[in-house]
Amino acid sequence: MSILKDKNILLGITAGIAAYKSASLVRLFIKAGANVKVVMTPASKEFITPLTLSTLSKNPVYSAFVDEADDNQVWNNHVELGLWANLFVIAPATANTMAKMANGVCDNILLATYLSAKCDVYFAPAMDLDMYKHESTKASFEKLNAFGNKLIPAGTGELASGLVGEGRMAEPEDIVDFIEKDILNQLPLNGKRILITAGPTYEALDPVRFIGNHSSGKMGFEIANAAANLGAEVILVTGPTHQKLRHSMVAIKPVVSADDMYNEVHKHYGTTDIAILCAAVADYRPKNIANQKIKKKDSTFSLELEKTKDILKSLGEIKSTQFLVGFALETNNELEHAKGKLKAKNLDLIVLNSLQDKGAGFGGSTNKVTFITHSNAIIEHKLKSKAEVAKDLMQQIIKQLHA
Ligand code: C5P
Repeated sequence: MSILKDKNILLGITAGIAAYKSASLVRLFIKAGANVKVVMTPASKEFITPLTLSTLSKNPVYSAFVDEADDNQVWNNHVELGLWANLFVIAPATANTMAKMANGVCDNILLATYLSAKCDVYFAPAMDLDMYKHESTKASFEKLNAFGNKLIPAGTGELASGLVGEGRMAEPEDIVDFIEKDILNQLPLNGKRILITAGPTYEALDPVRFIGNHSSGKMGFEIANAAANLGAEVILVTGPTHQKLRHSMVAIKPVVSADDMYNEVHKHYGTTDIAILCAAVADYRPKNIANQKIKKKDSTFSLELEKTKDILKSLGEIKSTQFLVGFALETNNELEHAKGKLKAKNLDLIVLNSLQDKGAGFGGSTNKVTFITHSNAIIEHKLKSKAEVAKDLMQQIIKQLHA
């Protein structure tokens, strides 16, 4: 999944021959999961039709303050358009439009929207090489840069004039890449590797049976999603679950038993910055796994169980620079038990959920948690959706990392 998913992207098109590439740009944004609206300068309609752009973006295209085709003359509200946008991308950006942007000129709907927008603005210049080098163009770049607008540099190559040089609009794929990287760079967990465990484990009795538990995996998957949305590279080691997650920053490693989970987690721990162990790992497993299906015979049946390895504890024992987070699901004496685990497993943070609280724990889509830090600070949260709890947890971790 792209970081652009669900973002509202306003694409501004000005009158350069590179406008023909804007159709591909709309498609790439849509493919990345963004919502796209297009605003054009009147002259750019000579280069690409609004019909092409409205069809690809599945939204009306705006090129005038008033919709002339409409007998009722509807005002195209540039203020609303500017506020709708999470990102405003002007591609191609001509020397003319950039000079106007730099000087507050507002003689078309694209420029009026630019002045109304509060979001990040990216601009991809496109012009002939001498225009690109001109002092006036450089002055526009500097001014726009000073406004906080972001230049997507033009490439070098054959230009519409037949000359070869700098001034070609960046290719649509490169524009998308530039914006995605820029957004990621601004995120607080950019460059961090996070290891998360989720779900139950299944401990085999024989080829068809296992001992498991009711963990749905939802909490761990929400944490993975929240961490990835903050720019982290996530490895999600999960026991059997129906949860689904597609995110370009999340690699899912399915496992079955506690032993599989132990091995997979240890494969990645050395290069991990933050480990969050949320899985409901079996504490015991059958000592012997039958090769054949166990037949029913007597009226009672006994199983001999042996302890599984405590994955979290094993990570606490070899911890170097990692920030280690565990979960504690308790039924009584909750705070004391959670504090005990925090110490015994050498954690930086433990997330306590009590089965005494309605809506907390396994299965459901809500949770009620208390964070306990290594310095014994206790932070209680209200009942929230697991997605909100995951966001709270990531904010708590970021806070402790910066303390
Ligand atoms: O001691 P307790 O099982 O209550 O600790 C819960 C925490 O330890 C959770 O974070 C859970 O994911 C982790 N755990 C583990 N390996 C086990 C048992 C629990 O990683 N075998």
